[in-house]
Order: sequence, then C-alpha cells, then structure tokens
Amino acid sequence: MASPFLVTPWRTQLTPSFRITHAKGVWVTPDGGPPLWDSASQLMVANLGHAHPMVVGMLQDAVETAGHLVPGVDSPWRDVFIEAMTPLLPSGFGPILLTTGGADAIENAIKVARMATGRSIVLTKNQSYHGATWAALTASGDARKVGLMGLEAPGFASIETANCASCMWGQEPASCQRECLTHLEGVIEDVGANRIAAILLEGESGTSGCIQYPDGYWVAVRALADRYGICLIADEVMSGFGRCGDWFAVSRYGVVPDMVVVAKGLTNGAVPMGAVLMRESLVLPRYQREPLLVGMTYSAHPLGCAAAVASIRGLSPVIHRAKELEGWWGLELQRALGGLRWSLIFEPVAFWGRLMWSIQRRNIPSFRGMGPTNGTGTSRMPYLKRGCIR
Ligand SMILES: Cc1ncc(COP(=O)(O)O)c(C=O)c1O
Repeated sequence: MASPFLVTPWRTQLTPSFRITHAKGVWVTPDGGPPLWDSASQLMVANLGHAHPMVVGMLQDAVETAGHLVPGVDSPWRDVFIEAMTPLLPSGFGPILLTTGGADAIENAIKVARMATGRSIVLTKNQSYHGATWAALTASGDARKVGLMGLEAPGFASIETANCASCMWGQEPASCQRECLTHLEGVIEDVGANRIAAILLEGESGTSGCIQYPDGYWVAVRALADRYGICLIADEVMSGFGRCGDWFAVSRYGVVPDMVVVAKGLTNGAVPMGAVLMRESLVLPRYQREPLLVGMTYSAHPLGCAAAVASIRGLSPVIHRAKELEGWWGLELQRALGGLRWSLIFEPVAFWGRLMWSIQRRNIPSFRGMGPTNGTGTSRMPYLKRGCIR
C-alpha cells in the first residue's frame, strides 16, 4: 500500500516540506531551528499574532459550551459575534453570511449579487486573486488558474488591471487621461450593463502582485457601478481586518461597496471562517418573503464566531496603529532589504504606505522563472525563501 500523505497545495508533491513546530506571537519555530520572525503571519491571517491569549481563551469557552450548532439557530456565540461586528459595518449594511473561508465567501457574494440583480456576469481584473474554488478561481486573473484552462465557470468577464507603475495604455501620470476607467466603462457597454451583476475587486491587491490602485480609481468605480446598477463587491479577505490601517481597505478611499468579503484576520486565522457583509437593501425586503438560498453545514460555526469576537476585541485598540506606523515601517523595510545581497535581484515595492508590502523580482530575463507564490521545480522561489530565512 502506498504511504498516505497530506497533499501540499500549489507545489510538486515531492518538494521537501518545511516543518514548523510552534507558532506564538510574531514567531514561528521550525523543527530543530531558531524561531523565525513571521512577517507574513503565515498566509496573512494572524493579524494579532499567533496563539493570541484572547483568541485561545474564547475558543476554549466555545469548545466547552457549543461545538457545532445548526447554522440557522440562535446562540450566545452568534449574538456576541453580531454585537462585536455591528460597529464595524459600513453604513446601510446589516445582513452577514458566515462561511467557511475566503473562497466560498467570494462564491456566495457572487451568488447573492446574481440573485439580487437577476443578472449573471461578474467583472474582475485580469491580475487578481479571489480564491481556489471553481468560480473564485475563474474570477481570478492569476497563474494559479492554469489548470482550469478551457474549464472555467461561466459568467465572468475580465477587465485590464489599472496599474500606474506599468500602465498598459503607455501613459505617465502627466499624460494620464484615466484610460483605465474609460476601458472599464467600455467593457460595461460592450458586455451590456443589463447583464452585469457585479464588479469584484480586491480592497487592495495582495498575492496578485500588490498593485496599487490609481488615485481615485475606487471612487470612480463606485460611481460607474451606481450609474449602471451593478453590485460592487470588495474582496477584503487579505486587505481587511487591520492590514491596511482600517477594518476594510476601501474605507481608506471613502468608498462603501455593496458587499464586503472578509476571512483570514476575521478569526486571526485560528478557525477557518469567512463572511459576506451586505447592504441591507440587497436582502430586504425580498428575502423576508422568500428563502435566501445560501448556507453550509459550518456556516456561523460557534468556534468561528468566538475567534472572530476575540479578533475584533483584540484589534480594536491597535488597528489604527497600523496607519500610524506605515511611513516608519516603509522606510525601515526599504533600508533592511537594501542591505541584503539579493537586493540585486529583488527590489522592495513601496506598494502602499501600509502594513502590506511586497518585494518584487527585478525585471531580469534570467530570473523570469519565479513562481507566483510558491514556486515549483526550477523556479526561483526556493532561493528567495532561503534568503528570507537567512
Ligand atoms: C484577496 C483574496 N481573496 C480570496 C482569497 C481566498 O481565501 P481562502 O484561501 O480562505 O479561500 C484569498 C486567499 O489568499 C485572497 O488573498
């Protein structure tokens, strides 16, 4: 009999694995090695640090008093979650659908947008990441969807990514005529506004390349969505819950979307849970009369609710510290990376003066082989990883 093993996502199955025995605060400890500073908090989840005592305490309580409960029933854990979440909601928001992670939250947001508008098409950027399930991956513009080629979920159309650092219309800030927005409106007209259910954008781009939105982009997209009656969905799975100095990155642009999708930091990564936060008018009054056809076995899981309450309580006093630290952090990071040997190959990208930064491979032809996140085989990612660990 073949020996059983856990599938390692996004990698060849024979790639040697990296073993971590402990994760506490900002540190992760590899087997037999010294603790490492976990600057990405694993997959951008433990925004309060690993095994935060408040999260651990709430989870212990929830395990002892609830375990699993049918999604539709009321319970103290669900009440306390609503109480903690309410002050964070954008104005006009009310209904919250709790899911089991980021990708299925995205899928549910798409489903709600389609049901609410009676339209089918969803517009997404051709450089974006929204998750690895069928529709979420179809929505993404990412090398990770190569396995889907020709098998994509129906009902998606892509728009060019607006990126001032590499403008596809060849413009510089001085010559810019906001071609990216003219393009978006052109796609809306070509596809037909009456067929478009939603525009889905990351609050801030994360694994899709940390591509900064042009000034005024989110505000202009909001105006276009209003003009054409399209639902605007902000994917804040990575950029929400403190990563960008606020609960939701779009808040910093002064934009209120129609739905906000969160996961990762929502539970500090301690329990898999995502949420679709919705404008009340998407759900009421229609779904007071007819059933809202959504839900999963683990929707609104008591452990997820407990971890989310701890995460909200823990982040509340510190979340704006991210905004205060962004300038300092940017300078320090640039200084630190500048001193490293591989800065010849990788350059820090001042993606945003916030707590989400990336480093980017310099445009050197012989270094084109780096995988998007976790490289396989001959890619340069293991080299970068070794450098980081050193
Ligand atoms: C912006 C964004 N959306 C959605 C997802 C999918 O979340 P999950 O991996 O929890 O399904 C991710 C995951 O990295 C993400 O970064």
